[in-house]
Amino acid sequence: MLSWITVMTGLAFPGLQALQVAFKAACNSEVPGRVVVPPGTFTLNEALFQGPCKSPIEFLVQATIRAPSDTSAFKTDGWVVFSYINGFKLYGGGVFDGQGMYAWTLNDCHKTFSCRQLPMNLRFNFVSNGLVKDITSKDSKSFQVNVLGCNNLTFDHVTVTAPDNSPNTDGIHIGRSSGIYITNSNIGTGDDCISLGDGSKDVHVTGVKCGPGHGISVGSLGKYQNEDPVTGFYVKNCTLTGTMNGIRIKTWPASYPGVISDMQFENIRMDNVGNPVIIDQEYCPWNLCKRGVPSLVRISNITIDNVHGTSSTPVVVNMGCSPAFPCKNVRLGKIYLGYNGPQGRAVSVCSNVSPTITGTQVPPACTT
Ligand SMILES: *[C@@H]1O[C@H](CO)[C@@H](O)[C@H](O)[C@H]1NC(C)=O
Ligand SMILES: *[C@@H]1O[C@H](CO)[C@@H](O)[C@H](O)[C@H]1NC(C)=O
Ligand SMILES: *[C@@H]1O[C@H](CO)[C@@H](O)[C@H](O)[C@H]1NC(C)=O
Repeated sequence: MLSWITVMTGLAFPGLQALQVAFKAACNSEVPGRVVVPPGTFTLNEALFQGPCKSPIEFLVQATIRAPSDTSAFKTDGWVVFSYINGFKLYGGGVFDGQGMYAWTLNDCHKTFSCRQLPMNLRFNFVSNGLVKDITSKDSKSFQVNVLGCNNLTFDHVTVTAPDNSPNTDGIHIGRSSGIYITNSNIGTGDDCISLGDGSKDVHVTGVKCGPGHGISVGSLGKYQNEDPVTGFYVKNCTLTGTMNGIRIKTWPASYPGVISDMQFENIRMDNVGNPVIIDQEYCPWNLCKRGVPSLVRISNITIDNVHGTSSTPVVVNMGCSPAFPCKNVRLGKIYLGYNGPQGRAVSVCSNVSPTITGTQVPPACTT
């Protein structure tokens, strides 16, 4: 039996100081500690909760917590940051509201290499053996949830929301982490619902609804030197609705070397989705790269099976692999995707890939 100490943060106004005092007490306790933020609405400045702690930590958050709207209130690129904690739980129905609408007009990170990183709502840095459950991230100024250097961290019944035109508001971004589970969650935002950066291993996404947003993405990879492989991505029983892309793997042309392998996309429902299945090894937004020079990222062991629904673009399956390293061991099972728009019939387009066909595809695989 675990025994817990519970630290309330005060009913009236649990501001930054009260929260940090509560966290320190819980973190230094020999028995597991719980920080309680009761219901209410209040503003919280940039907050870092950093371990290591002597025992596991819980945050029970029932409140709606608002970020300062002014970006000059932030010194780093994280608003609420949990760092170096082993044994972690964040739960309770609370809402983290980044008040991003005041900052989105300042965001030009998608257009330029040198830009100011706006703060992300929730950052998990080097958190292990953790659970985030029944928590909402709303209107982040930048990425909503960022996972870095984590191991065995589950997001269950998490809600992510922002308008579809909010720039760079990726739902959950994962990098250099392993054993990440995202289950039974609802993500609607202005950029990728879920995105995997380099060093993501063993990531499981099950029962996620995505939309609006740019879809579920691996990459982009290849833009930076010495990126770690992305391996083991299992996306099952998910629904995408009205998103700009469906499931997407993207790498830069003229890139540094990299590896993407062992990905399974199964039982995916697409409802009016653009580019439902897309491998794009010439990903070059805003022309910030040299097109025509092949990507050096090697893609292998990809399974796509039981993908059904409707597309908002005529190219429903688009696998554009690198001429330098054609995609290897790609398996296509049952894929049924319709297009009813004015731009002709649904087609499936492939280059530099010869998939193994194990099911029926409508339209037929790799028509051009
Ligand atoms: C993963 O973390 C959870 C806590 O969320 C814990 O219950 C479980 O035992 C951990 N799994 C492993 C393999 O350590
Ligand atoms: C996906 O759904 C099917 C059918 O409802 C179920 O049998 C399967 O266990 C689910 N897969 C996962 C990984 O939850
Ligand atoms: C791809 O799968 C094969 C067979 O399952 C395995 O031997 C190989 O190591 C995998 N390749 C990569 C790059 O993971």
